[in-house]
This record gives sequence, structure tokens and C-alpha cells, in this order.
Amino acid sequence: MAKLAPSLLSADFIKLGEQIDILKSKGISYLHFDVMDGIFVPNISIGIPVLKSIRSYTDMVLDVHLMITQPERYIDAFSAAGADIINIHYEATDKHIEIFKRIRELGKTPAITIKPRTSWKEIIPLLKYVDMVLVMSVEPGFGGQSFIPESLNNVRGLKEYRDNHGLAFDIEIDGGINLENAEKVVSAGADILVAGSSVFSKGDISEQTEKFMDILEKR
Ligand code: DX5
Ligand code: ZN
Repeated sequence: MAKLAPSLLSADFIKLGEQIDILKSKGISYLHFDVMDGIFVPNISIGIPVLKSIRSYTDMVLDVHLMITQPERYIDAFSAAGADIINIHYEATDKHIEIFKRIRELGKTPAITIKPRTSWKEIIPLLKYVDMVLVMSVEPGFGGQSFIPESLNNVRGLKEYRDNHGLAFDIEIDGGINLENAEKVVSAGADILVAGSSVFSKGDISEQTEKFMDILEKR
């Protein structure tokens, strides 16, 4: 069954513990944590101190999406702060293999992320080093944007390649995911759906999460 990874970018940081408790009580096991540096993307979000606080609060899987330039500078710091999965952008560095090896040395899960206009084919040589590929379905930088349908080509391409080459990475999708398109992205091959505004900003978090889980369970 595909998983839902709520993106904390849309959470209410005054009520963060309470909101994490609600998600956990609904069977959520992954939390998506967006880090932005104002350079790789035109926005600044949350970072190491907030990650540390969350780590000390929960044993859920912390899926850290680094939207930062030269992420090699911060792998050890995010690992120490409690990341479980460390997602780096393909477009943000040329030291991919070195970074994935370091993430493994630290006992964490390496993942690569591609922007909507990057073709999955560009990362073929890197696929054997990662346990997850994150396909962006909006331009990274902001929550609440509209889903870019063409990004499903990247999901389909990756799924077919993985299945034909005996690889086992998970395919995650991030950006504009909602109750209307969740089923379609799972059909295309997504294993993990990141959702920010549609979990936190569309009314009751608990009800929204239940609705997502219903869709994922029916598949
Ligand atoms: C955007 C972030 C996303 C964001 C998704 O750059 O990577 O994780 O929180 O937000 P929604 O689900 O609102 O598109
Ligand atoms: Zn993200």
C-alpha cells in the first residue's frame, strides 16, 4: 500500500506536537521535512533546530528534503539532527555518489530528488546508489501550488526502469497532491505521496488524513 508523508511545511508550528500526534494516531509513519536555503529555491523554511526538536518528540520516519545548494556541506549536520531519509536535489550538486556513500556511512537512507523539468533518464547512473527517488510535481520552493501532470512521466519512467532492472528504490512524489489526484499518482507508480496543504490547510487534519488513507487503502 502506498504511504502518505505529510509535509510539515504547512503545519502550524505553534501546535506542531499536537499535529504530529494526530497524524500518528491516524497511522501515518512518515513526516516530510522541507529545508530551503533561499538560493536553490526562492524561499527559506525550517532547519536543524526544528528537526532536532521533532526527532526528540517522535520515532516516526523523518524524510528530509534538502532544497539547498551544495547539500554535501550539511549531510552530517542533518544526520546528527535526526534525519532518517536524506533527499538531495540532482540539480544542486555534482557530488552525488560521494554524498550517497556518506549518507549510508552515517546509517541513513539516501534519496535523490528531481525537479519537474528534469527527465528521470538523467539520473539513471545514480539509481543504484539510492533507496528512494523523489519526483517533484511542482517547482520546489512553496506549498500550495498546482500539480504538474507531466511529472507523472517521470514516475512512470522510473517505475518501468526499476521493475525491469531489478532495482528496489521507492518512488515518492511531492507537490500539489490532493484527494482528487492521489489515486492517479498511485496508479502511475508512486509509493509515497507527500502532501502539505491538502493535509494541514483544508479543514480538519484528522479527517483529511482519514480521507487520504481511505483512497490509499482501496488500492
Ligand atoms: C515544495 C515542497 C513540498 C511542499 C508541498 O517545494 O517540497 O513538500 O510542502 O506542499 P503541497 O502539498 O501544498 O503542494
Ligand atoms: Zn518537499
